[in-house]
Amino acid sequence: MSSSHTPETITIKPRHPAFDLRAALATNWHGGDPFKTAFFNALSLTFPVGEKYFIDSVRAFQKQIDDPKLSQEIRGFIGQEAIHRREHTKYNEILCGARGYAGAAFEQGLQNRIDERDAYSAHLRLMETVAFEHLTALLAHGLLTDDRWLDGADPTLKSMWHWHAIEEAEHKAVTFDVYRAVGGNMDWLKQALPLITRQMFKDILSATWMMLKADGQQFNPVIWLRGLNWLVGRQGVLRNLSPLWRDFKRADFHPWDHDNRELISMWQATAEPELLAA
Ligand SMILES: [Fe+2]
Ligand SMILES: [Fe+2]
Repeated sequence: MSSSHTPETITIKPRHPAFDLRAALATNWHGGDPFKTAFFNALSLTFPVGEKYFIDSVRAFQKQIDDPKLSQEIRGFIGQEAIHRREHTKYNEILCGARGYAGAAFEQGLQNRIDERDAYSAHLRLMETVAFEHLTALLAHGLLTDDRWLDGADPTLKSMWHWHAIEEAEHKAVTFDVYRAVGGNMDWLKQALPLITRQMFKDILSATWMMLKADGQQFNPVIWLRGLNWLVGRQGVLRNLSPLWRDFKRADFHPWDHDNRELISMWQATAEPELLAA
C-alpha cells in the first residue's frame, strides 16, 4: 500500500508565474486598508526563511522513502516551495525597498530561531513542518473559499495569493505522509499544533506591527480594531477555520479529509491559463 494519501487526480508540480508587483506594493494594496495590507505583507515576510526550513526538514528523509508516488510528491513539494521562496523574496525586496521596512532584520530574527533547531532531531524538525503545513493549508482553504480574505485587493496580488494557496492545497499532505511513513510520533504532532499556531501568529502580528510602525500607524486604534475584527472578531475570517483546525487533533485525521479537489480544478479551469500566459 502506498504511503501517500494524496488523491490520484492531484499532480504536485511547480508552476512558473511572473507577477509584476512593483506599483501595487508601494501602496496599501488591500483596498486601501493599512492593517489587511500589512497582515498579508507580514505573511509574505515569513515565507522565504520558513519555506527553506520546510524544504530542508523534508529533504532529510527523502532517501528513506521507497514509495515512488510519495517520492514524486516530495520532489513536487520541494519544487513548489522553492518557487514560492523565489517569488516571495522578490515580493519582500520590492516591498521593503518601496516602503522602507526593516525586512532583513525581521528575517534575521526568524533565521536565528531556525538555527537553534540544529540541536533538534530530524523527526522534531519534520514534526514542526507538518504542523506549519496544516496551518498554511487552512489559510489556503480560507483564501480560496471566503472572499472576505482578499475582497478589494489589487488584482495582481490577489492572483499571486491564490496561486500560492492552490499549491499549498495541492501539497498539503506531503509532509504529513512522510512523517507517518518514517514513524513520526502522532501524539507529539497533535500537541505541537497549538504551540506552532501561537508562534506563527506572534510572528505575523509582530511583522504587522513593525510595518504599521514604519508607516507611523502603530498606535491608531481604528486601524487595529477594524483589522482585528476582520481577523478574529465574531464574524472574523479566522473563525470559519477553527473547526478545520480542531480536526487535526482527531486520531484518524488526514489532511485530505478536507477535500479541496473541486476548488483546485475550478482554479485550473479559470485562473491558471491566464496566470501562465502572463
Ligand atoms: Fe509555500
Ligand atoms: Fe507548503
